[in-house]
Amino acid sequence: MLDKFNREINYARISITDACNLRCLYCMPNGYIAKHYNFLTVDEIKNIVTALAHLGVKRIRVTGGEPLVRQDILDIIGTINEVDGIEDIGITTNGILLGDKIFDLVENGLKRVNISLDSLKEDRFKKLTGGDLKRVLDGLNKALELGLVVKVNMIPIKDINDDEIVDFIEMTKNMNIDVRFIELMPIGEATRFTGVTKDDIMKYLEGANIVKIENNGGGPSEVYRLDGHIGRVGFITTMSHSFCSRCNRVRITSDGKLKTCLHNPDEYDLRPYIDDVDRLLEVLKMGIYNKYEKHTLLEDKISKSSRDMVRTGG
Ligand code: GTP
Ligand code: 5AD
Ligand code: SF4
Repeated sequence: MLDKFNREINYARISITDACNLRCLYCMPNGYIAKHYNFLTVDEIKNIVTALAHLGVKRIRVTGGEPLVRQDILDIIGTINEVDGIEDIGITTNGILLGDKIFDLVENGLKRVNISLDSLKEDRFKKLTGGDLKRVLDGLNKALELGLVVKVNMIPIKDINDDEIVDFIEMTKNMNIDVRFIELMPIGEATRFTGVTKDDIMKYLEGANIVKIENNGGGPSEVYRLDGHIGRVGFITTMSHSFCSRCNRVRITSDGKLKTCLHNPDEYDLRPYIDDVDRLLEVLKMGIYNKYEKHTLLEDKISKSSRDMVRTGG
């Protein structure tokens, strides 16, 4: 459906848990502290996705926290896959449990996986996240072997991991992946760090033969092909080049709220209508129509969201 700024909303991100098995420096450095355990059930997710599909949503991305910590993740993916009108399901994961679950996830309909990966150095990865880099790389390689569309999300941070930008660009030489450099957004713990902009990273590509890929599926990233590389390099430029005017998405939080914009506060509680697809449809329609025009991160220097990233799903 169209929102009031004439944007076609055909993509929803559904967060299925706030819990996470890592503790990334800019997100949740002290580990997960539960605010509630009232996460959406499989039946609730099915009703919401059914209503969203009636409104023209075709693509679903399952997020967290870390979505793979849900014991019923296979059921969730399988159930979304069966909803009429849904053409594409992806997950965004930290990759730790990916190798263990990827075969079953694919059997249940998973098509795409975006992996958050901020360092290729084992020691540093451990320091930044508390996790084991080998497990993430194992998951990534298995996903590629199984033919999934794989994207790597890297957030360069000044004096923390920005010396690895070239190594991440190099990854695309022999791997059929998109490496996306994400500009750090000022929200929660991340306000303590300084990100790196697309223009700064472009300097590393000076002299390389690069071509921008147009019509990149409507997502937030700007993607480039590099001569001689199998994969691609992309940028998510929230801080330097706003893409709100082409935003195609809304979010569902793990406690059942429609959140129409990552960096604005509006939320619509779906739980009172959760068993009634027709009523869900009405609330979703009203909320989506009234989606915010844009974020004001640059003016405000901070997100207006009432949630931190781990409780929004990115
Ligand atoms: P696909 O387009 O489906 O591949 O996914 P994606 O790139 O939107 O999703 P992913 O979960 O990999 O998110 C990558 C980064 O983009 C994260 O930092 C998200 O917070 C950010 N992001 C995703 N959607 C939006 C959005 O609508 N607005 C802004 N500002 N950032 C977004
Ligand atoms: N700014 C930008 N991206 C972020 N993510 C988490 N916190 C931030 C932030 N402050 C990213 C994660 C993950 C995606 C869901 O969101 O790295 O890849
Ligand atoms: Fe869309 Fe809001 Fe993100 Fe802008 S900040 S791209 S409007 S979700």
